[in-house]
Amino acid sequence: MSTIEPLNEVRVLVTAGPTREALDPVRYLSNRSSGKMGFAVARAARDAGARVTLVSGPVTRKTPRGVWRVNVESADDMHGAVQEYLPDTDIFISVAAVADYRPEDIAANKIKKAGETMQLNLIRNPDILAQVAASENAPFTVGFAAETENVIENARAKLFHKNVDMIAANRVGADQAFDQDTNALTVLWSDGELDLPPQAKPELAKALVECIARQFRANRIKGGRG
Ligand code: PMT
Repeated sequence: MSTIEPLNEVRVLVTAGPTREALDPVRYLSNRSSGKMGFAVARAARDAGARVTLVSGPVTRKTPRGVWRVNVESADDMHGAVQEYLPDTDIFISVAAVADYRPEDIAANKIKKAGETMQLNLIRNPDILAQVAASENAPFTVGFAAETENVIENARAKLFHKNVDMIAANRVGADQAFDQDTNALTVLWSDGELDLPPQAKPELAKALVECIARQFRANRIKGGRG
């Protein structure tokens, strides 16, 4: 643990991992997030002195010591857990790969094979990050932007449209970021950016948390969120 603790006693809420959107009692829609990045961020925030709550989708990772973990399954569950802990949050870091859509209906019984094709109706999930940023007394809010193309432009658009304080642009692909041990980010905020080159997720998370802590303190001095 470092001797300088830039987030001493700051309350940090992190989301991690995928969500699972049920189709029937035995099937779901999900994605390849392993939780490695989100858990590394939670650990790095703890090492920076923060009091950390980690809302995690279904992953098989050990809870970092000293971190309060809440397990959820669907985007709706994650939304509920984040709302519950929000009043006690100074910094929100949304690393989770939340499903944008869920099946309109969950079949009560296992869906039977029928024709050659099958249609699924999907409906929008709540945008947890955007809702946190728009909430009264919003914490300092940090999103991730998982992009396969026009990474920086698309991430800047998310920074603006979701009205968050910072966004970590993350190039993703079949062998990139999702379920990998290494990752790279470009962190963007209204009047700055920082490149964090490819490295192991624990080291990357440490650099990201240092960057967040600097901006959080600068915002506090300016009288902004946080
Ligand atoms: O878990 P790993 O295997 O280590 O992989 C890490 C990661 C690739 C999942 C991670 O680094 C990452 O990029 N996370 C963001 C994934 C994502 O869903 O990004 P997005 O661009 O679709 O979403 C933008 C932001 O909105 C994200 O902060 C996301 O958490 C949030 N969001 C999205 C949809 C939704 N309904 N609610 C949200 O809060």
